[in-house]
Amino acid sequence: MDPSEQNKWKKAAGEAAAKLVEDGMVLGLGTGSTTAYFLSALGRRLAEDGLRITGIATSEQTATQARSLRIPLTSFAEHTELDLTVDGADEVELGTLSLIKGHGGALLREKIVASASKRLVIVADQSKLVERLGSLVAVPVEVVRFGWQATARCLAKLGGNPSLRLGNDQKPFLTNGGNFIMDCAFGPIPNPKETAHHLDHVVGAIEHGLFLGLSSEVILSGRDGVRILQKARS
Ligand code: A5P
Repeated sequence: MDPSEQNKWKKAAGEAAAKLVEDGMVLGLGTGSTTAYFLSALGRRLAEDGLRITGIATSEQTATQARSLRIPLTSFAEHTELDLTVDGADEVELGTLSLIKGHGGALLREKIVASASKRLVIVADQSKLVERLGSLVAVPVEVVRFGWQATARCLAKLGGNPSLRLGNDQKPFLTNGGNFIMDCAFGPIPNPKETAHHLDHVVGAIEHGLFLGLSSEVILSGRDGVRILQKARS
């Protein structure tokens, strides 16, 4: 895929999401390259339309970008419920709008923020859309450092074929919470609920990147323009 075309799609999705923001909202600010376009467009709305909002960042990277755009930041000490969160995804399952997230390493904070939001809108380009979760990417699992090898063994028993994520320096990647990430290549997952249930019970695993039943809609951008995907009724 042509990266410049994909960036155009990401930008279009991010800009469409910025239009959903209303005065007075408390926002969840996601992480990743698509969300970065949302933040830029939001920053412009604040400067040009005088919109007053506040947001909780899902990563240090997002907090840094928000500050540079003069987007006011808040915390869960001030707000335990958010009006709207805009975030990216690594995979979006057609129909259910279930997600795999965490390839940027922010899945724990992202899941806390998503779970505290009345509405979670995902911004993604068409390359993220799959028939079955796990078809394109592994499921990231955030694990505590102590005993990670034993945790990895448990993940392997679940069929996750885990590998410890490394940073550019070839040392273990550290999340903002100071934990490791094991990327679990399950392949296409026939029953994501069951897999999520198993992952929820792995001792040493703090959180995983299966986001089921959390997203309200997906702003999907691609060759045919920007489309809004709504969850299929079950
Ligand atoms: C961050 O941990 C992830 O969940 C991102 O939201 C996800 O990787 C999407 O990122 P891009 O928008 O850069 O593809």
